Amino acid sequence: MNQQLHKFKFIFTLLISIALVACVSPDKGRNLNDPSLKGNEIAIQSCSNCHGITGQSTSQQFPKLAGQQESYLRAQLTDFKGHLRKDINGTQYMWGMTNLTTKQIDELASYFATQPAMRGTKAQGPEIILGESIFKNGLPLQQVLSCSSCHGQDALGAADIPRLAGQHNNYLYKQILIFQTTDDRPRGQVMKQIIHNINDQQARAVALYLSNLNF
Ligand code: HEC
Ligand code: HEC
Repeated sequence: MNQQLHKFKFIFTLLISIALVACVSPDKGRNLNDPSLKGNEIAIQSCSNCHGITGQSTSQQFPKLAGQQESYLRAQLTDFKGHLRKDINGTQYMWGMTNLTTKQIDELASYFATQPAMRGTKAQGPEIILGESIFKNGLPLQQVLSCSSCHGQDALGAADIPRLAGQHNNYLYKQILIFQTTDDRPRGQVMKQIIHNINDQQARAVALYLSNLNF
């Protein structure tokens, strides 16, 4: 009798789980595989789950997209779609974008680029002063060029060069390590050369400085 009850409970739980999965996943899948949907619809229905409706993600794990350079967004989405950008989180979270059309990618890039831009909280401190110096002057003794020479004085980026101002600290730091120690972002070859000599403390400082910018 007891055994039968157990069996019943097990089957019941199984059925509920299947029903839940059936409710959640196909919905997400459909959004990313339906060429008739507009970019802004996909942004609000799918991308918002991680990046926020206006691209102001609240989790350090998910980069902010708000006010990011349009051309940069287009390039990254194309690379995720083609499985060229292959760092662990990119693979895990962004490789499901294989069926986005070129038009949808254009619309998504335009949607997030035109949202009010990501901003930091203007915090101050010695680590941030070190970060600012690295950003503006580079590290001449380690042959690290100034970041501002490409990303711009205020770190706003341009075209294929990303905005860094106001981006999540941990996300920026992680990308520096990815460029430095892997080939997982082939489009970032130039970054690999620039930062190959930066040390851990310096990488953390420049990421912290950038995340606090309020431009
Ligand atoms: C389940 C969570 C999740 C969803 C849904 C998601 N993303 Fe992402 N996205 C991530 C993560 C995590 C990363 C960071 C990957 C890494 O660390 O390299 C990322 C990275 C990106 C980047 C690169 C940003 C940069 O600064 O380089 C873009 C662009 C992007 N996502 C756009 C989108 C768009 C557009 C959608 C909807 C079609 C979307 N994402 C849906 C989790 C998600
Ligand atoms: C010669 C030009 C150049 C210089 C100098 C440069 N960068 Fe970059 N950076 C780029 C380009 C181009 C990309 C986009 C790479 C890609 O598409 O994968 C990039 C990407 C990045 C990213 C990834 C942002 C994201 O949203 O994923 C970070 C972080 C970054 N740079 C930080 C720095 C720092 C810190 C410095 C200075 C130590 C620096 N860069 C100097 C050209 C440059």
